[in-house]
Amino acid sequence: MTTIGSRWVWILGWCVLGLLWAETGAAAGKYWDFPPLPAPHEYGNVLISRTSVENKIKPVLFPHWSHRAKFSCRVCHFELDFAFATNKTEITEAENRNGLYCGSCHDGVRAFGHTEGNCERCHSGYGSTDAEKFEVFSRPLPAAPFGNKIHWGYALEDGLIRSAYSLFHADEKPMDFDRELELQAEWTYVPPAYFPHAKHTPWLDCANCHPDIFNVKKKTTQHFSMEYILEGKFCGVCHLRVAFPLDDCKGCHPRISR
Ligand code: HEC
Ligand code: HEC
Ligand code: HEC
Ligand code: HEC
Ligand code: HEC
Ligand code: HEC
Repeated sequence: MTTIGSRWVWILGWCVLGLLWAETGAAAGKYWDFPPLPAPHEYGNVLISRTSVENKIKPVLFPHWSHRAKFSCRVCHFELDFAFATNKTEITEAENRNGLYCGSCHDGVRAFGHTEGNCERCHSGYGSTDAEKFEVFSRPLPAAPFGNKIHWGYALEDGLIRSAYSLFHADEKPMDFDRELELQAEWTYVPPAYFPHAKHTPWLDCANCHPDIFNVKKKTTQHFSMEYILEGKFCGVCHLRVAFPLDDCKGCHPRISR
């Protein structure tokens, strides 16, 4: 009899915790220190200023939104070796003119080159892109609640944008790997996060995540929790500044109540 009694207490406890989740979800959002979100046309903009200022030229604005509409992350962060961080890649004007880094495309053929008259297009000196240009670009694309407010996944799946998988091999395609993982949270009453490989592989190479960011075995990555994600680790490598931001709880926890 006592076993049945305690089981009921246990089940009831779980129901109460389930109801509490709505509150906890909202509270958690307030409890964690979320970085402020820039305007949609500024989300994902990077201001590169490693060498420019000391060499008396304005810093460089790199907008992700206009580039990712044409190229997958893989092109720049795997084929061309740009880091997933600001001012970490050792880009110099000489390397650019030698056809590396920005110059892999900005060669006067694929995109405007490193010639007089174009300097200011990159060295524009501030972190904002033209809101009107962005508005025209984003209007026909499916909407999302945060970040650029564009649902990039649907835009690509529906063929509204064509982000090249490779810069060098036109016939190269993402690996067919559609394993979807349910990442159970450490807090027992929290609905799990899910990780869909198939939503990432059109944009990224396996080597963008494995083994540097995640182990290749489910639930073996250490300290894989929101606290670390918010510090820019794990999912936070991309989902703080370029991919849809952490504010979009439902993007990763579909059963969360906000
Ligand atoms: C396609 C974009 C692009 C264009 C066009 C461009 N640059 Fe740069 N340039 C960069 C980037 C990125 C850096 C690295 C900036 C940094 O880390 O502060 C850079 C760095 C520099 C530096 C810093 C010192 C060095 O050698 O790295 C100078 C000076 C410079 N550029 C001059 C120019 C001039 C002059 C022009 C026009 C003739 C020009 N750039 C055109 C992207 C560009
Ligand atoms: C055309 C090239 C290009 C494409 C495409 C691209 N990136 Fe980047 N990304 C860069 C450059 C350049 C930087 C700055 C590197 C540096 O300063 O060392 C950067 C930086 C980043 C950062 C660090 C941002 C920060 O605020 O510190 C993240 C995260 C990132 N990229 C993610 C992505 C993701 C995710 C995609 C695909 C959706 C993507 N990038 C597509 C070129 C690109
Ligand atoms: C994989 C190719 C590729 C790489 C790498 C690349 N760009 Fe571009 N970029 C383009 C293309 C294509 C365009 C649009 C065509 C044009 O305007 O000539 C463009 C346009 C731009 C524009 C115009 C503004 C806009 O939003 O359209 C800026 C500024 C720019 N790039 C900066 C950079 C800087 C800075 C780097 C390096 C840190 C870089 N790009 C690396 C392909 C690339
Ligand atoms: C980019 C994906 C992503 C987004 C967006 C996201 N989370 Fe998470 N969250 C995770 C992952 C992954 C875990 C860890 C799961 C595990 O422990 O395996 C997690 C864990 C949690 C936990 C359990 C405690 C912990 O730190 O492990 C809570 C509570 C939580 N998230 C709440 C939220 C709330 C509230 C939001 C929106 C404000 C949110 N999450 C947005 C991916 C995300
Ligand atoms: C955006 C990041 C990302 C990319 C890209 C990625 N993975 Fe993963 N992968 C993960 C995460 C997160 C896990 C779970 C790790 C954990 O729970 O510790 C995982 C787990 C795995 C697992 C273990 C699955 C299981 O059920 O235990 C395999 C196998 C795997 N990935 C293969 C691949 C292959 C092959 C590719 C390229 C086609 C790839 N991954 C691309 C993030 C990624
Ligand atoms: C290396 C960069 C990177 C990392 C790390 C990463 N993601 Fe993503 N993720 C993306 C990009 C790019 C997209 C495409 C959508 C976008 O840009 O907003 C995406 C899309 C998704 C989607 C699809 C949403 C939809 O409805 O289409 C989910 C869910 C997701 N990520 C969860 C996660 C979780 C959970 C983690 C950590 C375990 C994670 N991601 C780690 C880059 C990344």
